[in-house]
Amino acid sequence: ATAQIGVTGLAVMGRNLARNLARNGFTVAVHNRSPERTRSLVAEHGDEGTFVASESLADFVATLERPRAVIVMVKAGGPTDAVIDELVPLLEEGDIVVDCGNAHFADTRRREETLRGHGLHFVGTGVSGGEEGALRGPSIMPGGSAESYAKLGPIFEKIAAQVEGTPCCRHIGPDGAGHFVKMVHNGIEYADMQLIAEAYDLLRAGLSASPAEIADIFREWNTGELESFLIEITADVLAHTDAATGRAFVDVVLDQAEQKGTGRWTVQSALDLGIPITGIAEATFARSLSGHADQRAAARRAFADAGEKWQVDERETFVEDVRRALLASKIIAYAQGFDHIRAGSREYDWDIDLGGTATIWRGGCIIRARFLDRIREAYDAEPDLSTLLVAPYFAEAVGAGVPSWRRVVADAARAGVPTPAFSSSLAYFDALRAERLPAALIQGLRDNFGAHTYHRVDREGSFHTVWAGDRSEVAG
Ligand code: 6PG
Repeated sequence: ATAQIGVTGLAVMGRNLARNLARNGFTVAVHNRSPERTRSLVAEHGDEGTFVASESLADFVATLERPRAVIVMVKAGGPTDAVIDELVPLLEEGDIVVDCGNAHFADTRRREETLRGHGLHFVGTGVSGGEEGALRGPSIMPGGSAESYAKLGPIFEKIAAQVEGTPCCRHIGPDGAGHFVKMVHNGIEYADMQLIAEAYDLLRAGLSASPAEIADIFREWNTGELESFLIEITADVLAHTDAATGRAFVDVVLDQAEQKGTGRWTVQSALDLGIPITGIAEATFARSLSGHADQRAAARRAFADAGEKWQVDERETFVEDVRRALLASKIIAYAQGFDHIRAGSREYDWDIDLGGTATIWRGGCIIRARFLDRIREAYDAEPDLSTLLVAPYFAEAVGAGVPSWRRVVADAARAGVPTPAFSSSLAYFDALRAERLPAALIQGLRDNFGAHTYHRVDREGSFHTVWAGDRSEVAG
């Protein structure tokens, strides 16, 4: 046995992870159900490092040093379970199975428990950065036992993206913690992309600007506070021309956003935990809405010309307003995402370090951004921070953006340009800072129709008003 780590499942992500491991000097066992993929990996990239190829799972396992570390990189769901079932009888106590796919954290918790029963470690690991990241340095979020991290840590930290000498990988916490954090990462990715899309739509409508002109605006934004991978590639996508038609690429793409499910999982989990991740939820619903072509066509026919003609007077002021609104809304999305991680960590006893999580998102992953450093600083300074919004850097950025944010959302509403994420983020902000919320009325209504009781501002205890009788108040 000579291989330090193995990868089974050599579609693009698995293949690139295996190459990354080999390029970093690790001896990598490789296996794929259909052996052609294994052969082509070795034929095309064998010179990048040391691969030990096997055609059967049993041979593959036999090439691994103990404790064995096997990365499973197959489709989430049934296919992952099938490979695990096949692997378990081939492994020995203390061996480690790593799932680097986008698995649901509840599946990971279940698998971890089952494998623990066999004396094995199961490590659900979030990997972000797409195909390029997998090859050149992703952000890696391993869950599972601390013991498994003793073996995996040095390997993963070496192949991960590095920012200022710090690897974008750390042990997130036990069982499903890694996949949970990756799930929320993807939720934030959804919100970030929706906000960018709304900013683009606003600029296009308000300025009657071409995609190429808007690309320049995004390129400019990428030199400041908004600097991030997604802003950078937005400029690239907007500047791209379709070869077949000569039109802007963005104008020939069908406007129906798809999803594989991680955004939906994030929202479902947040509902369960009672955490208002409104930006992520709106972003997820905006994708669903875009796909309802029939309803959209019917509504278009019924309500043509719903908005006023938009006339932006001051181009520069407007662009700056959109930039500030984007930054403020983006901060809301991250604040909500980190609230969600904290709630998950408490619910499942994971003890996740929020600042540490921000650290490993600074490079490699899809949501890598300049301001993740600020998030880390905020949680390092105050680990029990009630919300990121009130940390000095973010409070200032949001505060400075409020007038712009209101103008943009109000102008968009008047012009009939949909801004679900911008406007719901502003509503979240206003609700959080409100002196009194109309939630009091909701409590009154609940008590009226269902005797659900309420608390008072001036006395302890719970109360009920006898609505159907003399309207006196009794203890509830
Ligand atoms: C990443 C991404 C990735 C995700 C794709 C597609 O961090 O590298 O989050 O894991 O699968 O972005 O997601 P959707 O199809 O749901 O948009």
